[in-house]
Amino acid sequence: MHIPPTPAARLRAIKRHVWLGRHGFLATCAPGLESLAAEEVARLPEAGAVEARTGAVAFEAPFDTVYPALLRLRVAESLRIFLAQGAAAGTFPMLFDQLQRVRWALWLPTSCAVTVRVRSSKSRLRDDAGLERTLRRALQAAGIDADASGTAADAPPVTLHLHLHHDRASVTLDAGGALHLRQGDKWVSPTTIRETTAAALARLAGVTDPLIEPDLVCDPFCGSGTLISEALDALAGAAAGRARGSEALAVPLAASPAWKPERWAHARRVHGGPGALAETPSVLAFDADPSAVRAANHNLETLGYSDRVRAEVARAQSLDLGAIAAARGARRPLLLTNPPYGRLADARGSAPGELLRALLGSAAGWRFALLYPRPRDLEGADGVELLDVRTIVTGGLRNAVLIGRVHDGGG
Ligand SMILES: C[S@@+](CC[C@H](N)C(=O)[O-])C[C@H]1O[C@@H](n2cnc3c(N)ncnc32)[C@H](O)[C@@H]1O
Repeated sequence: MHIPPTPAARLRAIKRHVWLGRHGFLATCAPGLESLAAEEVARLPEAGAVEARTGAVAFEAPFDTVYPALLRLRVAESLRIFLAQGAAAGTFPMLFDQLQRVRWALWLPTSCAVTVRVRSSKSRLRDDAGLERTLRRALQAAGIDADASGTAADAPPVTLHLHLHHDRASVTLDAGGALHLRQGDKWVSPTTIRETTAAALARLAGVTDPLIEPDLVCDPFCGSGTLISEALDALAGAAAGRARGSEALAVPLAASPAWKPERWAHARRVHGGPGALAETPSVLAFDADPSAVRAANHNLETLGYSDRVRAEVARAQSLDLGAIAAARGARRPLLLTNPPYGRLADARGSAPGELLRALLGSAAGWRFALLYPRPRDLEGADGVELLDVRTIVTGGLRNAVLIGRVHDGGG
């Protein structure tokens, strides 16, 4: 479909084909976290046909669901809209023919800087460069200048994913960019985890579960404070995407002719607030690295949590979790942390397994939720009961979420 001849005709077509229709969406996530991503997708307004796939959740919804989704999704890594699904793509001419049927002009700005990401599996067409060229030809045929250059205003960035599987093609348009980014100026350390992974750990830890209801949350290896920030956001019911739409955290779909600024503003008012924190739990954060602690305090301040928690420099070896809980009268303390391991996240002063076992040795009565790839390091640790081990893959690396508790009296 070519660009409609007048702005009014384009608007009419957008209304009819974009705003009034239901669309297929894909929320991608770390493999291992599909069930959590599916839960949050299912809570989006008018979302239906929710289906967990490997590393993603597919669903259907009206276009307007995109606005609350960009604000509320916490575990999903990206949000994409299907522009084509299951298109026959046995040969390049067939693929081109199918891609020409996409109503590009209703979704993409007339002039933009398109990035194409191609993946082909179990298909005859495997030449990534040829596949990208075919997609670009279809854009050109639709009157889209996909290679515009200049500022983001003249040539807004657009990312399209072209996937072939069993000779069927799908095309998705990235709506929100990297959803793990929650603030424009986060200070990071070399071992900072993604906010999306931290959100998943906080959820699996039961931070907001009324049956668990922790009255003290402690991260003794807080790094740049990602876990504590996500836990506080979850407790406050704050929108993950509340900073989205600012210059530092642009929404790619905002350049689309289908984007409705007034609808976004409305969604921000309804779904996009910072939430409100109750008085419990108390929150504590420590790290042995002073620069990580500085980063954590900067990040907590940016998110509006500096009144609630101030990270401090401390070595885990010097912390007695039992005494910390007793001093605060905590009855349901939760250790929520991503302990050091491996080369980048080096443990200071002890081997990682030893450091963790020693810490848990002082944690009688605590529940724990760890992002830690070696559950075997906990084998035989006194009083430690592992309740759940979930393997996840983040940034291509295998990791694990370990949920458990430490029994009183070492029993
Ligand atoms: C895997 S990183 C945590 C990253 C954090 N979740 C984030 O998003 O930034 C582990 C952290 O443990 C800290 N660390 C290493 N040895 C420590 C020790 N003995 N006591 C306290 N902190 C330590 C490191 O400085 C590092 O920030």
